[in-house]
Amino acid sequence: MDRKALLLGVLKRVTQPGELVVSRGALNRFAAFPACRVVVVAGGRSDRSVPAKVIDQVGKAGGEAVNLAIADGEPTPASVAELAAAVRDLKPDWIVAVGGGRVIDAAKFGWAAYEHPSLDLAGEQAQEVPPLRKKCRLAAVPTTAGSGSEASIAAVISCHGRKIPWISHHWVPDLVILDPEALKGIPSALMAETGLDAVTHAIEAFVSRLDHPLAQRFAVEALPLLLDALPRALAGPNDGPTLETLQFGAYLAGLAQSAAATGLAHALSHAAGAVLHVPHARATAAMLLPSIRINRRRGGRAGERYDALTHASGLKGVDELCSQVEDIVSRSSIPSTLSALAGRPLADGERALLVRLVGADPSLRTNVMPVASQDIEAILDEVS
Ligand SMILES: [Fe+2]
Repeated sequence: MDRKALLLGVLKRVTQPGELVVSRGALNRFAAFPACRVVVVAGGRSDRSVPAKVIDQVGKAGGEAVNLAIADGEPTPASVAELAAAVRDLKPDWIVAVGGGRVIDAAKFGWAAYEHPSLDLAGEQAQEVPPLRKKCRLAAVPTTAGSGSEASIAAVISCHGRKIPWISHHWVPDLVILDPEALKGIPSALMAETGLDAVTHAIEAFVSRLDHPLAQRFAVEALPLLLDALPRALAGPNDGPTLETLQFGAYLAGLAQSAAATGLAHALSHAAGAVLHVPHARATAAMLLPSIRINRRRGGRAGERYDALTHASGLKGVDELCSQVEDIVSRSSIPSTLSALAGRPLADGERALLVRLVGADPSLRTNVMPVASQDIEAILDEVS
């Protein structure tokens, strides 16, 4: 790695989207686009109304938009190559990702592969992403309030039986649309799981070993919004202001995560996703409370950081935070162990692989407390 790349790697940098459009009607931003070519990337099974609205608005602006439905599931080198080939045929000025974290991450990788066909996405390790935006730009319209990918320098690809996070400041979209209309109709189980993923981003970023005052600010703004709006959104009916609050909370938590990374719940969730094929939000929601419990028991910095978080967020303490999360977890029937997530006992081989993947996960290195490799077996015993 050269000197400049090393320097950029150690600086505490915060990259935010170039433009953020919020509140009801935000999707109309596409009617004010320049007349240009747009590819709308959306999940194959997702609600078609939001991509259709984007296409309609681009048409009103004198542009031309094409919908590109992609395979559901985590992006893989093969699915990204397919997406990049389709984008290459269409030569867009903009890629608009409409969907949850997996769709936005797929669009990020497809964008990079379109701009740099020689980029190796199938390696054992994440590569440095070369500068983007020579051919087109990226907009994100999240249709879940959770992943924070719309605000984030991270994108995850599934490869070699692992989930490999690629970190790059080039990933952050040029334009983000937070329109509560895009969340309407989301199933309540998905809303609970993705909302708790966002809660985890806020908590783990605040207590992260990469924390800094700005990341903490994002997190303490995000956490009360999420804890207020998520139970109301789950109780329904889903009114616009509640969904809007949820979107703001998830976006701010995404900024916090992007600025300060995550911790043990994400290390466990990434491993569970790779070995047990559990969706990211569901696995993270399941691992949040066990991770807080494990970290608190280790005392020291964890107790001080959780106390600082709850104090700054207007909560009475960590017990109140856990009890609010527990309410959402139990109301949504989210399991609390890996075997319950898998729906069966874990095989010995799976357990050994989980131990190895958790130990190698980058989120473990930023966890509030150091976790030695000899401690991972006991942690896996506790959460299995
Ligand atoms: Fe997450």
